[in-house]
Amino acid sequence: MPTPDATTDKASQPTRRWVNVLLGSGLAASVASFLYPALRYIIPPAVAESTSRSVVAAKAGELKNNTGKVFKFGSKPGLLVRTVDGTYRAVSAVCTHLNCTVQYREDLHQIWCACHNGLYDVEGRNVSGPPPRPLEVFEVHVQGEDVVVTRSA
Ligand code: FES
Repeated sequence: MPTPDATTDKASQPTRRWVNVLLGSGLAASVASFLYPALRYIIPPAVAESTSRSVVAAKAGELKNNTGKVFKFGSKPGLLVRTVDGTYRAVSAVCTHLNCTVQYREDLHQIWCACHNGLYDVEGRNVSGPPPRPLEVFEVHVQGEDVVVTRSA
């Protein structure tokens, strides 16, 4: 005949195993939740470059004269400018100095990089500050209600 302690031990075996499984899976989940973001940072997911050469950057009439709009062109930003005389210009919004995003300055009538005060004209030419090269220039066509920006081949 088993002693009362032996009976209690046998009865508690499945419970103890269940608690160990719960604790073990909780620990594993905690370790995974710490490691996953670190691994995603070290090995970032591959971002497919857009294969499209054209994008609708704005609707016709959306931009007033002497304004600009940053739009998404693939995985990088582009800048659509409607000049003082109403002409559309589009350039890459990635500064050629250290890759900050440029913007249109209505007061200067130029494209400005806030990071190090770089300036480009509306044609994308670097005119002052540290940018070493002009911005990549895109073609702009108004097609019906859309302002379409196209990258050269
Ligand atoms: S990153 Fe644009 S001026 Fe430096």
